[in-house]
Amino acid sequence: MSQLDVDSRNRRFWDELCGSGLARHLGITSDDPGSLLRFDAEYFKIYPYLEQYAPANELRGKKVLEIGLGYGTMGQFLAEKGCDYHGLDIAEGPVRMMRYRLGMLGVERPETKVQQGSALEIPHDDASLDYLYSIGCLHHTGNLQRSIDEVLRVLKPGGTAMIMLYNANSFRRIVKTPLVGAYTLFRSGPRSWISKWREKERAMYDANAAGEAAPHIDYTSIRGARRIFKQFESIQIDKQNADPFTWPRYVPRERLLDNLGRWLGLDLYITAVKPKSAVTNERRSNTVSTARAA
Ligand SMILES: C[S@@+](CC[C@H](N)C(=O)[O-])C[C@H]1O[C@@H](n2cnc3c(N)ncnc32)[C@H](O)[C@@H]1O
Repeated sequence: MSQLDVDSRNRRFWDELCGSGLARHLGITSDDPGSLLRFDAEYFKIYPYLEQYAPANELRGKKVLEIGLGYGTMGQFLAEKGCDYHGLDIAEGPVRMMRYRLGMLGVERPETKVQQGSALEIPHDDASLDYLYSIGCLHHTGNLQRSIDEVLRVLKPGGTAMIMLYNANSFRRIVKTPLVGAYTLFRSGPRSWISKWREKERAMYDANAAGEAAPHIDYTSIRGARRIFKQFESIQIDKQNADPFTWPRYVPRERLLDNLGRWLGLDLYITAVKPKSAVTNERRSNTVSTARAA
């Protein structure tokens, strides 16, 4: 698939807000402030460890960019910390939602703060940001290394990136994915079973209301993360998140977050600092995605 294809599929697929499944489960059908409050409370119940990555005392007054906005819960959380919040997403739906949320918070002209565009061509100047947050987004871009290079470019020397990427060596990938592969081979025979298997695997991570899988996912090991972040310093990598056990007996995921989740967790939370001595890379000129400010 060409980069243009990945970009246009991402634009279409993610127009349905990431988190819509949770909203449906909660019976949320509107974007009124009460419904969003209910959604956000549930979101932080599911991901209780998220808050520790956004300390208010460090963010206040700082210029922060979030890439990959989804339902806007994390974005609103960051904006409420008193930082100069900016957002970026390839799809229209999340951009609309984040502008709406900023408007609710009283931010003037939210359309100048939240842009539609690609993480592969971040529409911000070199060395202009103090913090960059991206939870579960950059592995969808189709070019993970290039997105990390862009993160490095836009951070100020001494600026911090907080990036969540899917763990290549999670319990899900080590145990469940091979079982799904064997089942796919058994059910559909050897013809193109690997691509069917990979698609089923992607759907285990991100699927829309129609059950379709996200167009693209890269999975990252700890060693791989150190490689793609090699131009950063003070790299800290935490494993977080877990699936529930359904066999031999049911164990809810909340009970697994602080043990299995920290060992073979689904997600890597990578905190990395751009060296103070870094010479800023110039923006690449061979970009293929166009960032579109509204
Ligand atoms: C799995 S969702 C995560 C949303 C949110 N951060 C969360 O954790 O709930 C991925 C988000 O990344 C966005 N995205 C995918 N590819 C992108 C790209 N190339 N550039 C910018 N955003 C992208 C999608 O539109 C979507 O909002």
